[in-house]
Amino acid sequence: MNEAGRARLDRMGEWSALGKHREELGEVHLRELFERDPGRAERYVLRVGDLHIDFSKQLVTDDTLRLLHDLARATGVAELRDAMFAGERINVTEGRAVLHTALRAPADAVIEVDGENVVPAVHAVLDKMADFAGRVRSGEWTGHTGCRIRTVVNIGIGGSDLGPAMAYEVLRPYTARELDFRFVSNVDGADLHEAVRDLDPAETLFIVASKTFTTIETITNATSARQWLLDGLGGDETAVARHFVAVSTNAEKVAAFGIDTANMFEFWDWVGGRYSYDSAIGLSLMIAIGAERFREMLDGFRLVDEHFRTAPPEENAPLLLGLLGVWYGGFFGAQSHAVLPYSHYLSRFTAYLQQLDMESNGKAVDRQGQPVAWGTGPVVWGTPGTNGQHAYYQLLHQGTKVIPADLIGFARPVAELGDELKAQHDLLMANLFAQGQALAFGKTADEVRAEGVAEELVPHRTFPGNRPTTTILAGELTPAVLGQLVALYEHKVFVQGAVWDIDSFDQWGVELGKVLAKRVEPALVEGAEVPGLDASTAALVAKYRELRGR
Ligand code: F6P
Repeated sequence: MNEAGRARLDRMGEWSALGKHREELGEVHLRELFERDPGRAERYVLRVGDLHIDFSKQLVTDDTLRLLHDLARATGVAELRDAMFAGERINVTEGRAVLHTALRAPADAVIEVDGENVVPAVHAVLDKMADFAGRVRSGEWTGHTGCRIRTVVNIGIGGSDLGPAMAYEVLRPYTARELDFRFVSNVDGADLHEAVRDLDPAETLFIVASKTFTTIETITNATSARQWLLDGLGGDETAVARHFVAVSTNAEKVAAFGIDTANMFEFWDWVGGRYSYDSAIGLSLMIAIGAERFREMLDGFRLVDEHFRTAPPEENAPLLLGLLGVWYGGFFGAQSHAVLPYSHYLSRFTAYLQQLDMESNGKAVDRQGQPVAWGTGPVVWGTPGTNGQHAYYQLLHQGTKVIPADLIGFARPVAELGDELKAQHDLLMANLFAQGQALAFGKTADEVRAEGVAEELVPHRTFPGNRPTTTILAGELTPAVLGQLVALYEHKVFVQGAVWDIDSFDQWGVELGKVLAKRVEPALVEGAEVPGLDASTAALVAKYRELRGR
């Protein structure tokens, strides 16, 4: 038992039972599982909102599922979930509540943190965002010289960039096409340069998005953007108020930067950066798609929140997806998880999920600070199909690694495509279905031989199959469906963190690099001595200075 009264995961009977079950399954093939149980295609499907989730091509049986649910019960997943929804401080290392679910709660909900209902404040900010977004969209909000805003540039990084940037791409067909949106994150000056080089400052609005308002990349880029604006508008400092707004939890720092706090959109320390794009961090998105669509997206989130909170375990989609990840990580040695959306609009979805999953569950000590003896978060990766098929799918099909994958697709192409482009949609989706089939069932050596392939080539042309996938289908990629998808993954990540007994809501692992970068920078610029610099890095710094001509 640990201090929280929970047995260590690897000492739980439910964990050992899964290990034993895994041994019994041995090398069982999906072909065999389907032969033994043809009904699994109908049975192994879950439905949440618009999402049809088919997990029949997963290497599981009814026994596996029963044992995984036993593990979820033994590890207290439901209790931790309820504590999260109730606003308890489940982020133990930072002593914070974890309430991204409050961001999409209905106006009449009551969710308390320290005895205060946070829902009215959430809706007040949403209303303020809606008012501002409406004014930018209509042209009522003008720049310093009276011009209407044509381009919105979001400056932020990590959770203050990936969410809005991803969602803007996903929902492009719903955006005000007469406005242009750009996202600047990298401290590499090239990012800001490319974003603004063809812009007119008089028509540009910057949103500085930073939960802490101390993130060096964002403050550096925002400072440079401010200079660019002032250079372009003749240096009148009063211009800043018409061209810069902020999204932050830190009013003091926002004011110190020179942004009028009347133009600050607030959120709260109980929203983690990677869980924040449905807060004010989504301001750029709301300007792009309008308040109504934004609220539809929030409705999508809420639908999955309610499902996660109330659906019985056997029907609970985030619970199932989380447990499948625990299964492969714990008992198949899977190191990574591929997310393969068959939608061009989801091109940044996996990058978004990388932060959500890897910053949450990339931990090696449990909630009590003891080293874990089990694998935790996987490497999450992937790009839209069909592009990946012509690049890395070779390894998925014939490589030596187990890589569970999610295939995500939509029945209908977006409405604004012309008929000819709409017709391409069936080919896109045929590829999704074909890949799921090929990964699961492969092609045996006998099947290859029957095609008359020369014997020496048979091993090369055999597909082992047995590569697990989940297929997630929806009718159309709408704002509500995006909300559903994101909430599905948020809660999946939660489930895995709960089973692994790690704090999914801190991110101490990013701190060391930040501190060292601050220490190294003077060495690069002035050749200053850096105390304690290791020999390898010191040599690299010297080489850099030589190549830089210093
Ligand atoms: O360095 C990691 C991190 O703290 C992320 O968790 C966060 O999303 C990102 O930096 C940006 O932080 P902020 O919104 O405070 O600028």
